[in-house]
Amino acid sequence: MALRSIICIPDPRLRLVSKRVEVVDDSIRTLMDDMLETMYDAPGIGLAAIQIAEPLRVVVMDLAKKDDPPAPMFFVNPEILWASDDKADYEEGCLSIPEYYEIVERPARVKVGYQDRMGAHQEIEADGLLATCLQHEIDHINGVLFVDHLSRLKRERVMKKFQKAARLRESEQA
Ligand code: NI
Repeated sequence: MALRSIICIPDPRLRLVSKRVEVVDDSIRTLMDDMLETMYDAPGIGLAAIQIAEPLRVVVMDLAKKDDPPAPMFFVNPEILWASDDKADYEEGCLSIPEYYEIVERPARVKVGYQDRMGAHQEIEADGLLATCLQHEIDHINGVLFVDHLSRLKRERVMKKFQKAARLRESEQA
């Protein structure tokens, strides 16, 4: 396994629509292991491949509580098959938008189709944090960020803040 670096806004690659994985082979399993190690190190509870600059439809998550044993989950080509009309609010954050948290409203329950680590087709019905997390990560592989669900004012404010910080870093390196 290898630790990879996480890209942050305003990196334009976060807006790419990731490509479908055709075959779940060892290279994909290695990618998932790298993603998991990177996510645990951050630390975070979910990571999409594009966040380590790999535009593939691959997601890893682990929602285990702090003192519980690790419970890694792997999703290849995940897609939302059904979403409930009822909504739920969760405070979300994102490893690609460090130290920024906001309440996001999303469908409370979803059914997701995906392929597992061995390439087998699976379906999962989720509510609570798992439903929110799946939707957040599936957004990533479609180039969507959680701030896109906020008001324009809030989104522009956070994007500007990160753009400014990026410009400052560039001018320091120049
Ligand atoms: Ni995220």
